[in-house]
Amino acid sequence: MAAHYDVIVIGAGAAGLMCAATAGYRGRRVLVIDHANKPGKKILMSGGGRCNFTNLNSTPANFLSDNPHFCISALKRYTPQHFLDLVDRHGVEYEEKAPGQLFGKHSAKDILNVLLTECEWAGAEIRLKTHIRNIAATEPGYRLTTGSGSISCDSLVVACGGLSIPTMGASGFGYDIARQFGLTVLPTRAGLVPFTLHPELKEQLAPLSGISCPVDVSCRKEHFREPMLVTHRGLSGPSMLQISSFWQPGDPLAINLLPTCSAREDLLALRSNKPQSTVAHYLAQHLPKRFAAAFNDLHGWTGPLQGYKNSDIEQVAATLNQWAIKPAGTEGYRTAEVTLGGVDTRQLSSKTMATLARPDLYFIGEVVDVTGHLGGHNFQWAWASGVAAGGDA
Ligand code: FDA
Repeated sequence: MAAHYDVIVIGAGAAGLMCAATAGYRGRRVLVIDHANKPGKKILMSGGGRCNFTNLNSTPANFLSDNPHFCISALKRYTPQHFLDLVDRHGVEYEEKAPGQLFGKHSAKDILNVLLTECEWAGAEIRLKTHIRNIAATEPGYRLTTGSGSISCDSLVVACGGLSIPTMGASGFGYDIARQFGLTVLPTRAGLVPFTLHPELKEQLAPLSGISCPVDVSCRKEHFREPMLVTHRGLSGPSMLQISSFWQPGDPLAINLLPTCSAREDLLALRSNKPQSTVAHYLAQHLPKRFAAAFNDLHGWTGPLQGYKNSDIEQVAATLNQWAIKPAGTEGYRTAEVTLGGVDTRQLSSKTMATLARPDLYFIGEVVDVTGHLGGHNFQWAWASGVAAGGDA
């Protein structure tokens, strides 16, 4: 006979572990299955190894979804403060690196240990290196055929994440399960991902590689004022990752390199007051020195400002306040932090994450079409959706 559990959770990541502990504390017999050799691999690599585990300012406006209201209920019922209380109860030290963005003070391992300890206390079992070959509905419940035998359950929670970083165990399995049970999966694409550039522009920007500067980038009516990093592959840094979630192939980006200044007014005033001054001098006062010099050389802005006609100044100013760039593409799932799209939330209960057609089948975390901005919002969704399902499954 197949071993039987009240709840089987597929995926020992952020959402799955949170769900398992929550269901376990309700007295449910819970098994978490993962094909990877370790639980929570993405937690360990997140936030530069320190895990940006929540954002105190997280609101539904920080999430992208085809059905934007869906996330409200779960996020309201499990807030950043709830997760912070949990972290505090475990004595884990943390710090606010940027406004609202909470990171482990020492290591992301501390955050993973909170979840693993909670699962242990709640009696949830975790089985790794387990490959699921088949899932069958048994009315009631489900039977899973794995490489090491069959198991059955009353409730099945799908928490297998999205497609980003396949080397960390990401797979499209969650989407396959959704399709198997007749759910719609909205088109997926890489989000929070660096941009690649066409060869000519990449070569031109090569001297800027490794330099970061604060910019305001906009695309499709969205904009983010955060640092941009030029890399040897293209454009990265928080501003680029953020806008990548809104960018579509072929879109230009408008990058304001001087978001706190009107370059036009400044340069016109400078030409009147200090006609011998140069664009290079002006840039050096407002941008990191190496970036200023390389950007100036790139555009060939030479000679004193008194030699610049009004139209020249307009052109320089437009480049500085609205530098238009057409990325070649993105680095894709290989380096993306998240996957946009996924299981259509119109088929799920916003209170429990259960599918409307099958109240014993749940989808949580990144596999669902809810994607956060950069800054701890994605983990907050994993916790909130995990708790919502764990309270019902
Ligand atoms: P997650 O991907 O965490 O877990 C899914 C689990 O399912 C994995 O353990 C996987 O092995 C398993 N699985 C997949 N297919 C399976 C199959 N066929 N059978 C069995 N198991 C299977 N977010 C944030 O808020 N703050 C941050 O600092 C960062 N930083 C960050 C850095 C990097 C490099 C990445 C890639 C991502 C982030 N993120 C982040 C995003 C965050 O990691 C992500 O949103 C959550 O991990 C999603 O949690 P899930 O539990 O849904 O999926």
